Amino acid sequence: MHFQWYPGHMTKAKRMMQENIKLIDLVIELVDARVPISSRNPDIDELGKNKARLILLNKSDLAEDKWNDAWSEYFREKGFSVVKVNSKKGGGIKSINGVIQEACKEKIERDRKRGILNRPVRAMVVGIPNVGKSTFINALAGKACAKTGNKPGVTKGKQWIRLNKNVELLDTPGILWPRFEDQAVGLKLAFIGSIKDEILQTEELAAELVTFMNKNYPGVLESKYNVEEDTDPYGMIARIAESRHCLVRGNELDTEKASVLLMDDFRNGRLGRLTLEYPDAY
Ligand code: G4P
Repeated sequence: MHFQWYPGHMTKAKRMMQENIKLIDLVIELVDARVPISSRNPDIDELGKNKARLILLNKSDLAEDKWNDAWSEYFREKGFSVVKVNSKKGGGIKSINGVIQEACKEKIERDRKRGILNRPVRAMVVGIPNVGKSTFINALAGKACAKTGNKPGVTKGKQWIRLNKNVELLDTPGILWPRFEDQAVGLKLAFIGSIKDEILQTEELAAELVTFMNKNYPGVLESKYNVEEDTDPYGMIARIAESRHCLVRGNELDTEKASVLLMDDFRNGRLGRLTLEYPDAY
């Protein structure tokens, strides 16, 4: 399976990110809890060096909690602050302000020693497309978000959201690209729906997902769709089509429709909470 990407705006996005990062104390990096490594940008550690770092395992509601905990531990050992969040439902959001203060305590202490008191921490949200950046900013800022407007000394046009007296957040997230040249990464991002379906063959993708499920979550498809085991992924898709009455012209199996249904069920958590990569491999 080959993935095509359209890296047209990548250079511009990276340049903007480099500019914005100069203005901030803390990088809040969102990753997808189902694929915490594949949904990271390869340059982010270089871009974010010398900044306080917070990783949010977003969409944690869709990933297995034991792996969410294992990944939290993995990133903590690497020196990141970590929070499991569900931006859509607000899970974990309340703890964020406290964690930001903790993540920036060295900077706050440095300021204090230099006689600078109560300067708010400035933060920026970054992540690859579709990881939940806008949803997170809305959940964190809520309705009360008051834009602070331009400030002297700050690049014109930047908007800061004052979260409270201690924290200001850049209102536009930094969009970064994943390790798109790696086909294994591309496949996982296609599973979770980060790559547009139009550029992929749905049946081929669904067959890859069946193969993954058979290996890592045996029995789940069988019980969800009430079908017999089938080691051939295309055979399994046909069984799902049969079981769900996906038919064309009356009685022919519509495997394309079954593939769309399977991908949709997977992406929306209807196959259960599933994690696609595990810390021991990294
Ligand atoms: P982005 O800015 O990083 O590109 O991502 P965005 O916030 O647009 O979110 C992408 C999709 O992910 C949205 O779904 C959003 O609702 C969903 N999402 C964000 N955070 C979470 C989370 O913690 N858990 C779950 N389950 N979903 C999350 P969508 O399909 O585009 O829209 P809709 O389903 O909300 O209508």
